[in-house]
Amino acid sequence: MSSDSAPAPAVDDAAAPRHVLVAVAWPYANGSLHLGHLAGAYLPADIFARYHRIAGNRVLMVSGSDAHGTPITVRADQEGIAPADVVQRYHPEFLRYWASLGITFDLFTTTMTENHRDVTHEIFRGLRDHGLIEARTTEQFYDPEAGRFLPDRYVEGTCPSCGASDARGDQCDTCGKTLDPIDLGDPRSKLTGAVPELRPTEHHFILLSRLEARVRAYLEAREGWRSHVINWALGFVREGLHDRAITRDIAWGVPLPDDAGIDAPGDKRIYVWFEAVIGYLSASKEWAQRVGEPDAWRAWWEEPAGESYYFVGKDNIPFHAVYWPAQLMGTPELNLPTNVPANQYVTFKGAKASKSLGVGRSLLDYLEVYQPDTLRYAVAANLPEANDVDLTEDELVRRVNDELIATWGNLVNRVLSMIHKRFEGRVPTPGPLAEPDEQLLATIDAQLAATAAHLERVELRAALKEALAGAQATNAYLNAMQPWKTATTDRERTATTLFTALQAISGLNVAFAPFTPFSCDRLNTWLGGPTAEPDPRDARIGEGHIDPGALVGHGWVRREVPAGTELGAPEPLFAKIELDED
Ligand code: MF3
Ligand code: ZN
Repeated sequence: MSSDSAPAPAVDDAAAPRHVLVAVAWPYANGSLHLGHLAGAYLPADIFARYHRIAGNRVLMVSGSDAHGTPITVRADQEGIAPADVVQRYHPEFLRYWASLGITFDLFTTTMTENHRDVTHEIFRGLRDHGLIEARTTEQFYDPEAGRFLPDRYVEGTCPSCGASDARGDQCDTCGKTLDPIDLGDPRSKLTGAVPELRPTEHHFILLSRLEARVRAYLEAREGWRSHVINWALGFVREGLHDRAITRDIAWGVPLPDDAGIDAPGDKRIYVWFEAVIGYLSASKEWAQRVGEPDAWRAWWEEPAGESYYFVGKDNIPFHAVYWPAQLMGTPELNLPTNVPANQYVTFKGAKASKSLGVGRSLLDYLEVYQPDTLRYAVAANLPEANDVDLTEDELVRRVNDELIATWGNLVNRVLSMIHKRFEGRVPTPGPLAEPDEQLLATIDAQLAATAAHLERVELRAALKEALAGAQATNAYLNAMQPWKTATTDRERTATTLFTALQAISGLNVAFAPFTPFSCDRLNTWLGGPTAEPDPRDARIGEGHIDPGALVGHGWVRREVPAGTELGAPEPLFAKIELDED
């Protein structure tokens, strides 16, 4: 298992690249995704992945459509279609989000693959062979009117833990506890509204009571986790872990292995939460297969130095910080999570009707108003890392127009335009750098080191703040040096100022790249920067793979743009948001 104290960022080419698994919550393929999903998991994961790729580390970023369980079947029932058809509708939509927003999965697959079934069975057998799975007969809710068992979301009632009246059978959204439907107060069937009755049925259980001490020791040894995550997980485990059923009476899901040892398995399937988390491993293996190096997944999962970061919303904390480590303990050679930087919730306030955007809009609706980079920026500046965040449309617009564009976009535009106007679009040859010039570059380099330190700790908002502060420092430098004034009196001074400001921009482009990758690739081209050699393996991945950008392997460092370099014609980096007033 890897150490979780943040190692020094790999900016030094001599250091061997680290292997960083970026594991992102698998969205249920039963509806469109919204701003809350983007802020909760997909954007932070992508920022983190891009940082590590630029720093020269080997990133594997995987996820996929969560295709099973009652969230899918309830939706299929409502529409009178097959569960697989629900998945087939949303999976391609998810792939469009990632392509449009630049969420750079190495693989975004589904849990419907044969590979996923096989890997699920391997984990199942690993646990069973270690005596950690057992078949038991239990009483479960049955709807006498519908004539079927009622797993998970087919039952609603009162939360036994916090008393909320609208708890679902699998989890209470109010307190976050995972539940067993038979513990609900005042239960009712979601199918017919009937009061369900208890009937005996046989299921497999994971013996968490036997793993409790190990899970607790694992959690107690974590360092650097977000306090809301580790506090919740430890508090939960200290209340005691109970054996949990990992099969369900449902006709949709991963089937049990043939040797499961249950009589008449019939419509029994593996519980969605037991198998979906296994997706991180099965997707890593699928990726390795697709790139033609079937053992390549091991560097992240079996090498002790492999690191893994799980990007999830807070309702997923029990499954990633407690149950998934427990499942992995049945397969002791696999690495446990290095960190689970779970996010809190984003809510959207003041959503107006009509042309305005609200939390109900899908991510593609946002892209009609925002460029991918401006949406990424505004959301990244508001990530719910420590607390729930209430977003308003005004806040998103303010971040884009008054912060990103006013500070960083205008800085780039200003400097490139002056170089075009005064120096024929070529980086001027500076005179000797004076103190303010040296100082600016030292500030930018210190800020790059600070962004790296924050990104290592998954403090993405703080990293973005540093990048913005670097742009502010460069603007302040220009205001002090006034190259537009010195242009007529002191050509060498003007050359030195614009040369220096351009070098600062070159450094800041690295700091902004994980957040606003599209504009950074354009700016990198204008600056005559190097572009990453395409990884020939990427071409073999096919659907769901997105170009990870020009700065991959660049190093988390400021590259000097040599005097004489011909710069691209300046164009605005970003488009302002103009909202219709109505
Ligand atoms: N589908 C779940 C949700 O949307 C998340 C599953 S994460 C996984 O809340 F790892 F279990 F797949
Ligand atoms: Zn509750």
